[in-house]
Amino acid sequence: MTSAGSVEQRYTLLGIETSCDETAAAIVRGHPDGAREILSNVVLSQLDAHRPYGGVVPEIAARAHVEQLDGIIATAMEEADLDWNALDAVAATAGPGLIAGVMVGLVTGKAIAAARNLPLLAVNHLEGHALSPRLSADVAFPYLLLLVSGGHCQLLLVRGVGRYERLGTTLDDAIGEAFDKTAKMLDLPYPGGPSVEAAARVGDASRFALPRPMVGRDNCDFSFSGLKTAVLHTIGKLDKLTDRDAADIAAAFQLAVCDVLVDRTARAMRLFHAVHAEKPPQLVIAGGVAANRAIAAALSGLCAEMGFAQTVPPLHLCTDNGAMIAWAGVERFALGLSDPLDVAPRARWPLTQLQG
Ligand code: KG4
Ligand code: ZN
Repeated sequence: MTSAGSVEQRYTLLGIETSCDETAAAIVRGHPDGAREILSNVVLSQLDAHRPYGGVVPEIAARAHVEQLDGIIATAMEEADLDWNALDAVAATAGPGLIAGVMVGLVTGKAIAAARNLPLLAVNHLEGHALSPRLSADVAFPYLLLLVSGGHCQLLLVRGVGRYERLGTTLDDAIGEAFDKTAKMLDLPYPGGPSVEAAARVGDASRFALPRPMVGRDNCDFSFSGLKTAVLHTIGKLDKLTDRDAADIAAAFQLAVCDVLVDRTARAMRLFHAVHAEKPPQLVIAGGVAANRAIAAALSGLCAEMGFAQTVPPLHLCTDNGAMIAWAGVERFALGLSDPLDVAPRARWPLTQLQG
């Protein structure tokens, strides 16, 4: 690596993502001068298939990946206007995630690699999120990453490719899950994040008092189950849940989440300063929950106060997609890394177990 996002040679990779409810494939190219191009980025969301259940159903997700992935990859190749010979390697998510879905993508990646005699990169989904800001901007290592999605809520110190230190994680629910469950309790439509945000916009956050779990604790961990239970108890005390009540509870919930994120991230920022005092500090926010405007505004205020620059990748690169997997593949491949064809899919795979 010569500078942020640069590689020694031009590499063109196919990236495959199937770890949750998005079936995705993309072609990304990294150039020696540091430029990078997303030649195609095709994402098929299964939202409609899971909506009746108010959450992702693993069997439905896996079956949809099987049915859709070949077509999505073909579309990605067509949109990139590339021949298979133009690929230098194939990257596929190998975990963590819903195991049946991960298997579909990884097996497909292996089959393409074997058939075309290409190297395989078994990419950690979290590494895809962690490196995604470097696909759209010149973000140099090290940086602090707040990963807020349907499956995760983590604060990571990103020192380099494969070099991650987890400063904190959730002890129970992921943050997006907390939004989704709160929406369900408030009779708001799935996916919960956007509908809670919309309801909160017209609600009064001061009407109900909700807890701020973990605030003030001497670590960077999160917990959302107590907040979820508090929402349930608050609803239980009402005669009938009106739209007004739902909006006020959504506003109180979102404010509590913002306060928790600001407190936990502030602590991680102080740790970052202590370790990398000489480097310009930068906070990157990734994951689907980064779409929440109230959260983004609260964290912008924190960054201004703490002297951190803030980067949020464009939303289509923040949520699950194939381009971030292809890009993580480019970054690893540029370092001479690849994986054997018998690499196993993993439901659990902490970033701290990676090697750069
Ligand atoms: O990153 P993502 O697309 O998929 C995972 O890897 O999980 O994140 C999806 C999560 C869902 O839980 C969804 O409710 C949440 O992100 N989300 C939001 C918003 N938009 C999506 N949460 C809060 N506010 C939003 N505006
Ligand atoms: Zn994700």
